[in-house]
Amino acid sequence: MVKICCIGAGYVGGPTMAVIAMKCPEIEVVVVDIFEPRILAWNSDHLPIYEPGLEDVVKQCRGKNLFFSKDVEKHVAEADIVFVSVNTPTKTQGLGAGKAADLTYWESAARMIADVSKSDKIVVEKSTVPVKTAEAIEKILTHNSRGINFQILSNPEFLAEGTAIQDLFNPDRVLIGGRESPEGQKAIEALKDVYAHWVPVERILCTNLWSAELSKLAANAFLAQRISSVNAMSALCEATGADVSQVSHAIGKDTRIGPKFLNASVGFGGSCFQKDILNLVYICECNGLPEVANYWKQVVKVNEYQKTRFVNRVVSSMFNTVSGKKIAIFGFAFKKDTGDTRETPAIGVCQGLLGDKAMLSIYDPQVPQEQIQRDLSMHKSELDKPPHLRAVSPIAVEQVSCVWDAYEATKGAHGICILTEWDEFKTLDYQKIYDDMQKPAFVFDGRNVVDVDQLRQIGFIVYSIGKPLDAWLKDMPAVA
Ligand code: NAD
Ligand code: UDX
Repeated sequence: MVKICCIGAGYVGGPTMAVIAMKCPEIEVVVVDIFEPRILAWNSDHLPIYEPGLEDVVKQCRGKNLFFSKDVEKHVAEADIVFVSVNTPTKTQGLGAGKAADLTYWESAARMIADVSKSDKIVVEKSTVPVKTAEAIEKILTHNSRGINFQILSNPEFLAEGTAIQDLFNPDRVLIGGRESPEGQKAIEALKDVYAHWVPVERILCTNLWSAELSKLAANAFLAQRISSVNAMSALCEATGADVSQVSHAIGKDTRIGPKFLNASVGFGGSCFQKDILNLVYICECNGLPEVANYWKQVVKVNEYQKTRFVNRVVSSMFNTVSGKKIAIFGFAFKKDTGDTRETPAIGVCQGLLGDKAMLSIYDPQVPQEQIQRDLSMHKSELDKPPHLRAVSPIAVEQVSCVWDAYEATKGAHGICILTEWDEFKTLDYQKIYDDMQKPAFVFDGRNVVDVDQLRQIGFIVYSIGKPLDAWLKDMPAVA
């Protein structure tokens, strides 16, 4: 029986291994983590992450061929294949701070693998890492190997949160990079055999190590670049009377462009896009390519601009001040169908409104109050770390209340900001909401989820990203 151990029971390690266990009943899969509460949660009825379909998969395999354990060293020692899926946040201090990937967790995992191993192993980079990381990991492993043979593979993960299970069941491709030596090729074949249990072989791409590592950064950079491109267009649409949804639809019909990932928004969030682009920028700078670095940097700058633009629009529309005004925030997660708030645009928008002394009433169906309070009182550099690794600032956010109901959030409010595209926001009783709000009542839709005409008929003043402005907003001062 092949034994797999995965170090890191997070958003990637947990779902990925659960699916491998489900699709490969003859393989024993153990997911390990140093953070004990996470392991306890994986072994309980309340999984540590919310992901549609995940619970069913875990329930089917847990205790049969899928196990979650804090006994990291034991299970690494016993495994034939060790996946490393630890977090690789942006460095906050020292050389490359604010851009380079922090490989502390990765390095400590690699040293531990070398220390405890008594048999040959395939070590798989599942985390997103800078190109050439495998070389560094190889050095750590071989210099501490005591005669054991380690083969390093790069197998980046392309799942998106909220659709992780579906993405894992039916991936566009699985990418495996390895050494071109016979041993490297044998390791590639071994990992390919695992995925071939359910992924058609023509979708399993095999490359050299550096191509696999770089392809992951490139894929995220391209995806984020599409969003910044459409968001840049949304600003121009508002200035000209064009409608960004119509523009996206029109350009997406070109088969060379395609329709996906062209939704204008208040900005992209999540733990990956910004971190991976900054990492790419740093690698370009280190390789003497400042023009290339600047090109990608602009994707992040436009994303920041989009959040600032949204806050400025809210404040300028409401007579240039939101001081003391109750504003309902619909959605705090970085996208729908997840409770993850890492780098969510809601943090920047809420902090901007709080800076203008607004009183926020926040509703998100999946994000608990403590999480929201922690995110809003946190220094930015802490935000892309997993919650339990963040340093919590003692500042209490008195202007913030969190509620478990959209109607409660809007009672007596002056405005609503929609920051996550949860489906339920489309079908709320907006007439009832309007009746309970201060007048004029504003809706600022950062995700283009509401029916603008219907809300305007009710009496709302509506701003929807990239849509033609209504007369009220046109009369307000131009936003930066
Ligand atoms: P995460 O923070 O949810 O999980 C990482 C886990 O690793 C944590 O629970 C942490 O306690 C554990 N860990 C850290 N060091 C450890 C060690 N030495 N031994 C044992 N456990 C250790 O992170 P994530 O979102 O799952 O991301 C993991 C990696 O996958 C990152 O490199 C990320 O860029 C990449 N990735 C993430 C996504 C995503 O959607 N979240 C998608 C693709 C790739
Ligand atoms: C992303 C990549 O999609 C995935 O392949 C990779 O493995 C990890 O990073 P994720 O961050 O989980 O996945 O979600 P994604 O669906 O890519 O959304 C990222 C952000 O972009 C979200 O804030 C989302 O709301 C935003 N977005 C997405 C838009 O603003 N417009 C779009 O058209 C699509």
